[in-house]
Amino acid sequence: MIQEEEYKKRRDKLSKKLLNYSVGIISASSYKTRSNDTQYPYRQNSNFYYLSGFKEDNTALVFVKRKKSIKTILFVQAKDKVQELWNGKRLGEKKAKKRFLVDEVYTMREFDSKLKEFIGAAKNLYYDFDSEDKSVQLLKPYVKAIQTNKNIAPLIHKMRLIKSSAEIQEIKKAIHITKKAHHQAMNFSKIGKKEYMLQAEIEYTFKSHGAYSDAYTSIVACGNSANTLHYIENNRALVENALILIDAGCEYDYYASDITRTIPVSGQFTQPQKELYNMILEVQLKIIKMVKPHAKRSDLQQKAQELLCRGMLELKILKGNYKKLMKKEAYKKYYPHGIGHWMGIDVHDEAPYKDENGNEIAFAKGMVLTIEPGIYIDKDDKKVPKKYRGIGIRIEDDILVTKRGYKNLSAKIAKSVKEIESISSDRKL
Ligand code: GLY
Ligand code: MN
Ligand code: MN
Repeated sequence: MIQEEEYKKRRDKLSKKLLNYSVGIISASSYKTRSNDTQYPYRQNSNFYYLSGFKEDNTALVFVKRKKSIKTILFVQAKDKVQELWNGKRLGEKKAKKRFLVDEVYTMREFDSKLKEFIGAAKNLYYDFDSEDKSVQLLKPYVKAIQTNKNIAPLIHKMRLIKSSAEIQEIKKAIHITKKAHHQAMNFSKIGKKEYMLQAEIEYTFKSHGAYSDAYTSIVACGNSANTLHYIENNRALVENALILIDAGCEYDYYASDITRTIPVSGQFTQPQKELYNMILEVQLKIIKMVKPHAKRSDLQQKAQELLCRGMLELKILKGNYKKLMKKEAYKKYYPHGIGHWMGIDVHDEAPYKDENGNEIAFAKGMVLTIEPGIYIDKDDKKVPKKYRGIGIRIEDDILVTKRGYKNLSAKIAKSVKEIESISSDRKL
């Protein structure tokens, strides 16, 4: 749980970055329509949540910076008996004043008039250029009257790069629940079941342990389905002698986990599956070991490409001269994606990869990233030995950069052939 003081510290840090005579606005997400009059479950805007920890829609944070003074103002939904009967309780102005360590609290009914007042003396207007939310729309009439408009989002994204110890605790909780879900999948898999049945077990496990949502749509891909990177249909049957690629992670208290395990339907890897799996696992372990302060993601990417290319040559998935294959980027056919990404409030955390000068940002203590090499071989790829066709494998863990190196936060999720087979062998079929 993140304390109110920490949210306040984040707001203070952000307000220091704003120029004098500025107004900055960051607003809550709106509900998104699924179809006609039904809506997707509500998810707060990540930047707004990062600065407030407040989960209600139709709310906004405003920073008013004059020459010497900075004021933080929160706008909340007014109490409304009818609305609350249909859509749930609102915190309201009074309780918000007690809870949030902001300077002033008003209701959204006052937003427009207060905004006029704040904007009067401002020279700069900061808002999220990509936001379509109501409070940002309300700003639009003022935009032209102000001298400069600035995007507030990148300032917050930069702050989100380094996780506090409270944030790391939240991520650890998410991963702990995700561990249970993956182990449950290893236990539950059986020939004849459908991919979505495994997905349901995984997501039931998330919810039953207090993770209200997944952090992204689960991928449960049996056999050749795994060769579609964003496969989310999850509607095929689990078949004999196939592997299942499961990329699933829960969101706990707004923090993500992002884990992939590739497991045999029957509980036992075949010999060719083992060969390919162990090659990728070895690469993953080597790349994880490279994580430490000052290392760079591009170095990890390069090394992963080299190691996977060599591994594919050894298994005769690629043929020819190593240097030539590297030059041609031949490995890309089977390993087409990145080695990993930042993770936090968003699964692909919106933190920058480059600094203001366009230079790559090196790792530093408190950053969290995924390491996720994979190989995907289509069932009809005649260039590859038959025994490997129709296999897609990815292995993904969540890694914290520490003072001297790294900590694999998901190290307890079964990963070696032996560990996976051992969990599967306990199945009650
Ligand atoms: N689950 C999305 C990813 O691995 O990046
Ligand atoms: Mn990932
Ligand atoms: Mn993933």
